[in-house]
Amino acid sequence: MSELDIESLSKEKRTFAPISDPRAKAYVPDMEAYEALYKRADEDPEGFWAERAKELVTWFSPWEKTLEYDMHKPEIKWFAGGKLNVSYNCLDRHLENGRRNKAAIIWQGEPEEDVKVYTYQMLHTEVCRFANVLKAKGVKKGDRVALYLPMIPELAIAMLACARIGAIHSIVFAGFSAVSLQNRIQDSAAKVVVTADAVLRAGRTIPLKPNADEAMKKCPSVDHCIVVNRAGLEVPMQEGRDCWWHECTHADGITDVCEPEPMDAEDILFILYTSGSTGKPKGVVHTTGGYLTYAAHTTQWVFDVTDNDVYWCTADVGWITGHSYIVYGPLCLGATSLMFEGVPSWPGPDRFWQVVEKFKVNIFYTAPTVVRALMREGVDWTRKHDISSLRLLGSVGEPINPEAWMWYHTYIGAGTKPIVDTWWQTETGGILISALPYATTLKPGSATKPLPGVDAAIVRADGSLAGPNEGGHLLIRKPWPGMLRGVYGNPERYKSTYFQRFPGMYESGDGARVDDDGYFWIMGRLDDVINVSGHRMGTAEVESALVSHEAVAEAAVVGMPHAIKGESIYAYVTLKTGIDESEDLRKALRAWVRTEIGPIATPEVIQFTEGLPKTRSGKIMRRVLRKIAAGVYDDFGDTSTLADPGVVQDLIEGKKDLTGN
Ligand code: PRX
Repeated sequence: MSELDIESLSKEKRTFAPISDPRAKAYVPDMEAYEALYKRADEDPEGFWAERAKELVTWFSPWEKTLEYDMHKPEIKWFAGGKLNVSYNCLDRHLENGRRNKAAIIWQGEPEEDVKVYTYQMLHTEVCRFANVLKAKGVKKGDRVALYLPMIPELAIAMLACARIGAIHSIVFAGFSAVSLQNRIQDSAAKVVVTADAVLRAGRTIPLKPNADEAMKKCPSVDHCIVVNRAGLEVPMQEGRDCWWHECTHADGITDVCEPEPMDAEDILFILYTSGSTGKPKGVVHTTGGYLTYAAHTTQWVFDVTDNDVYWCTADVGWITGHSYIVYGPLCLGATSLMFEGVPSWPGPDRFWQVVEKFKVNIFYTAPTVVRALMREGVDWTRKHDISSLRLLGSVGEPINPEAWMWYHTYIGAGTKPIVDTWWQTETGGILISALPYATTLKPGSATKPLPGVDAAIVRADGSLAGPNEGGHLLIRKPWPGMLRGVYGNPERYKSTYFQRFPGMYESGDGARVDDDGYFWIMGRLDDVINVSGHRMGTAEVESALVSHEAVAEAAVVGMPHAIKGESIYAYVTLKTGIDESEDLRKALRAWVRTEIGPIATPEVIQFTEGLPKTRSGKIMRRVLRKIAAGVYDDFGDTSTLADPGVVQDLIEGKKDLTGN
């Protein structure tokens, strides 16, 4: 994020006292309760988490030790030896506890008339069937299954089916390209790929299976591909490898009876790839018992989901938010989770509010980028619908600027509904810092305070504790059940990325400060990761995509402030000798990045340049590039180590020529 945004956050002084829960049912009803719980969890973390794990999760057999850990090694085990099954917890037990015929998933497709409701019983039946299909395809406990699907119920069904038989799912967001999918399948050596013929998006039908076909050409680990018919497209099916979902789930011998596999608490539940500061995305590993406990716990306390609520998280299941807060958290609690296939802007900018009105949504969780985009369309769109069913709003993925927060509060929350600004990451499995809806006084732009059991601290580069209002590295000093347990196939990277620089503590990669009231203000990433519309993108990833193009000699990518997306991608590109700069080449490079990574990685600006600001030792001075991209042409700091200081002026001229400012 830009310095300017940080500035605007630090000037924010407004506060909003909590309202009392109209139903008097809140799990954490006031600040006193929060303080007591925080103290309890701090003094006796094992007792606190053991209680939560017993209350929220059904265990086939108890664990031997609540927590064993060494954050230096690192090695973290929660509830080891305990046996459970995630799909049992999300489905079977609700068949006996009065929720059998309750809606588990309400699915709203992109076309208005496409609605499906799965009761817990119906979802159970579909999950068991698909689990049997996976078994019939030779999938065993511990095998990896790649899910490359749009936001359709089959995605949730496939996740739970994997969990049922102990297979590890690796979901690849359907907006990623064939190359990205291929890299992820190869890294995890997935045996089966589940995909669809197409994605429906903003009125268009975008073929998906061709990407999977392209990827699978170079993935010898894949034996089978199962294809959901979403759009009725003709797709080539490879004999022996490919089959249609609707056919294989009803093939001879496939029943709807499938016993859940007892899993150890520390068996892997899923892998989810996320961007880091080096070129290759890493497979974040989450395990079974701790993750499920944490997802359910935070869904319950932060979103205050109760049995009668309709709860809607607008994320895509391809990201961690969808894993924890569309599928695992809500279903473990026996809640009703709304799953939406469409986008906020189509067919009109009132689509979200129309969906809220249609299903009388009570709890609504979205990203600041969505709020900013809708804010720009004007408030009349929100007034077209009765959204008075809403009682709680959430935000995630990037810092929410106070202006967007106020708009969300005033127009969506009628000036009275609590907003929970939730800070967390793919690696954390669930929310770590957030308001509790009926307890916390809110400050627009602050994620407020760590949840009970979360030991967050801000430290300086030398590891000492930062003082009040001093920006520093956001670290977590004690383990929590939802934390990652590894980087798939790469223990070295697990240690060096998260536990090395500040030994014995988890390094989030974010900068933050804590104000005089103990409120956390997240300032954004401190590493070479940019946050585009709440999606994490490694600058190195985009750079390596650019340099793999035949015309490019060198590339440097930085984030630049963007009014709607938060940040967007700015690429400085040096062409090979003899290649001419042109608008066509710029277009071709954009298209190239889309094919190499996916549309979310498309550079907003590509500036051709003769040279990059490098130190004499050859290191690119990125802060100079970030400033120029943001249109800030002074205060570059110490540039005396640059090999050729003249490059800076050339870059500024080039930027002005390109963008006019
Ligand atoms: O920089 C933080 C930002 O998103 C990053 C994590 O991205 P990802 O792993 O994709 O997970 C996104 C959804 C949990 C963080 O390092 N971030 C996330 N939530 C917030 C946030 N920044 C500020 N405020 C938040 N509420």
